[in-house]
Amino acid sequence: MKIELAENYGFCFGVKRAIKIAEENINAATYGPLIHNSKEIARLDRDFEVGLVEDFKTFKAGEKAIVRTHGIVKQELKELKESGVNVVDATCPFVTKPQEIAQEMSEAGYDVVIFGDEAHPEIKGVKSYATHGAKVVTNVFDLVDLKLNEKIALIAQTTRKVEDYMEIANYLIPRHKEVRVFNTICNATFENQEAVRKLSKRADIMIIIGGKNSSNTKQLSSISHDFCANSHHIEDENDIDYSWFNSKKLCGISAGASTPDWIIQNVVNSIEECVNSLKITN
Ligand code: F3S
Repeated sequence: MKIELAENYGFCFGVKRAIKIAEENINAATYGPLIHNSKEIARLDRDFEVGLVEDFKTFKAGEKAIVRTHGIVKQELKELKESGVNVVDATCPFVTKPQEIAQEMSEAGYDVVIFGDEAHPEIKGVKSYATHGAKVVTNVFDLVDLKLNEKIALIAQTTRKVEDYMEIANYLIPRHKEVRVFNTICNATFENQEAVRKLSKRADIMIIIGGKNSSNTKQLSSISHDFCANSHHIEDENDIDYSWFNSKKLCGISAGASTPDWIIQNVVNSIEECVNSLKITN
C-alpha cells in the first residue's frame, strides 16, 4: 500500500504564529485553548509552562493572558485590558478581519448574517463585534424564518466549505435589495480543502488527522467523505484500526490546520510499520 500526503495539510499561518507567541511567553496562560489540539496544548504547558485558563475573570492584574487563535468576545477583551491584565493577542489576523467587518457593517445599518457554528469560539467572538447583533446560520433552512432587513452583510466562519457558503449567498441575493458577501474563508482552509478534494478522489482510504473539536479538520473530513467512503477522522495513531488498510492500494493523509507535524509523523510511521510488519494484503 502506498501512502501519500495531500499537497497542503497541517499547521496554517495563524496557528504557527500563535504557537510562536505562546513559546515566547513562558509562564503565561491562554484564555481558552490556544488552538483546537489538546496534545499541542499539553506540549506548550510541559515545555513552556503556558497554562490554560477557562474563565477570564480569574486573571489578575499584572498576569499575562494570551488571546487564543480563534479570538474572544469583545466585551471580555475590554474587561481583561481594563483590569490591568497584560493581554498578548494571538488572534489570527484572518479572524480579526471578520470581527472588523461585523462591527463596520453593523454600524452602517446592515443586518449581519454569519454562516458558521454559533457555539464555536470564533463565531462567538465575531458575533460580539456586530454592534446591533448578528444572526448565525448553518444552512439555508435556518434562513427561511429569519426576519432580515433590506441590507445584508454576509460573513463566513474562516474554516467553512466554500460550496456551502455559496448556497447561503445564492439564497439571500434574490430576496434582498443589497447583499454584501465577504469572502472570510481563509486561504489555508481553501488550500487544505482543495488538496484533500484532489487526493480523496484517487485514494481508496483517507486518514484525516486533527482534534475532534477542530472545525477545519471536520470540514476536511466531510470533503474527504464526499469522494472516498473509507475516510477516517483520527486524533493520533492510537485511533487507528489497522484492519482499515486491508486490500487498500493508496492511503491518502491530510491534517487540520491545528495538527502539529509531530502527530502527523507518528501517524505516518505507525501506518508504515503496520503495512511492513503485518504484511497488510493489497
Ligand atoms: Fe487563521 Fe485560517 Fe489558520 S483563520 S488560524 S490561518 S485556518
